[in-house]
Amino acid sequence: MESQMSDLAFQKCINTACGASYGIEEVHHRCPACGELLDVAYEWDRLEVPGALSYFESKWERRAEPLCFSGVWRFGELLPFALPETRVTIGEGQTLLRRCRPAAEFTGMKPERLFLEYEGMNPSGSFKDNGMAGAFTHAKMVGAAVAACASTGNTSASMAAFASATGALTPVIFVGGGKIALGKLSQALDFGGRTFEIKGDFDDAMARVQEVSVERGIYLMNSLNPFRLEGQKCIMYRILEGLRWQVPDWIIVPGGNLGNSSSFGKAFMELVELGLIDRAPRICIVNAAGADTLDRIVNDEKLAWNGSQYDRERVKSFYEQMDAEGRSAHTLASAIEINRPVNLSKALRAIDVTDGKVLKVTDEEILDAKAVIARGGLGCEPASAATVAGLKKLVESQTVSPDDLVACVLTGHQLKDPNATVGYHSGKGPDREKLAKYGVEKTWYANAPVPVENSLEAILEALEKMEG
Ligand code: F0G
Repeated sequence: MESQMSDLAFQKCINTACGASYGIEEVHHRCPACGELLDVAYEWDRLEVPGALSYFESKWERRAEPLCFSGVWRFGELLPFALPETRVTIGEGQTLLRRCRPAAEFTGMKPERLFLEYEGMNPSGSFKDNGMAGAFTHAKMVGAAVAACASTGNTSASMAAFASATGALTPVIFVGGGKIALGKLSQALDFGGRTFEIKGDFDDAMARVQEVSVERGIYLMNSLNPFRLEGQKCIMYRILEGLRWQVPDWIIVPGGNLGNSSSFGKAFMELVELGLIDRAPRICIVNAAGADTLDRIVNDEKLAWNGSQYDRERVKSFYEQMDAEGRSAHTLASAIEINRPVNLSKALRAIDVTDGKVLKVTDEEILDAKAVIARGGLGCEPASAATVAGLKKLVESQTVSPDDLVACVLTGHQLKDPNATVGYHSGKGPDREKLAKYGVEKTWYANAPVPVENSLEAILEALEKMEG
């Protein structure tokens, strides 16, 4: 049975000058021939692909079946690398696509044209669970016993959740010491992930985990893994579904290791190729100002995909210069505190095929946007709010019109990083001091708790002041 699938899906180097391909039963972090990233590719002509996206609505009626309940596998026909009996699910992909009036007012959008795609309802509270469904399925296909990842917190929480829910393999985690939000660290520990705090940051942890995986034959769960990105494509299918299959004008996504934006680009390339949509939305990737490699490379260095022949030497010298200057990533949006995004080349492709954009926003802009989003009843973590902060700039510069149909991806739950939230609102204490270190001085939407004596009189007085 497995061999039937392996005829129809394979791994392919994204560098068209190389074009090497490998079986899906093989495990590679990069193309063994040229070192570029790999895609999962399909023989679409020989696969049964639905004639219209509305076909997927029929899965919803069968949601008592785990593979139809999954917000990843109910789109299984669009990531057909594994047979149904091999597919791993822990109930990922339960998301909301919702309007948010305060975010619309903040950004200058028409309220009925702006949607927020909330990924915080996933089992581990972030979008990472979409990709893990794909990666754990592939790990099962190749019989992996141990899996590893480097993480700014959410990948590790997700990998540990899948490992403990399935009992399938031992999760080994590498994080930068003191670098990840406590909510996320607590998840990794609670789910039983073997966690190593490296003396360094995410970029160091990412470099080490690749070495360790090769040295010990450990299965790598980072987004270098092309099977993970297959799962992440489904976030886009659900946005289309939420819009009754209307194609939005813009998708806005935070950029860290650039796995998400890469997978979104691939999702739309394939949907256009399959004739399921007639055009791709434009993707805007938003960096934090303190972790702005993509923004510099695209907007300052003017590097472009160039049919897969982007200037690789220029990227190399960019990193050399970054090291020479001793520049490391620094943002309160710790999820995207990354200076060496491993999926850079695929993100350049996504920008190319969707006529995309890149911009950066400050931590102050991110936290204001986060507070505004929360006033609309959706709680997200700082990195997620970079999208709405970015959209505000896009509307200001008239790149996005208030009439455009826009979806911002809120990647992670509010409770992942309560310190950032309390620091923003409370206006004092160690969390507030930490904010100042990141250049966050003004907190326009702060909602500080009010200290009050333990007496009815004092409380009534305080209430009156509040009402006044
Ligand atoms: N938002 C959140 C909440 C994240 O956790 C991440 C990445 C991103 C955005 C950026 O996505 O890497 O695909 O560009 N977190 C990774 C992690 C790096 O280890 O959890 P990306």
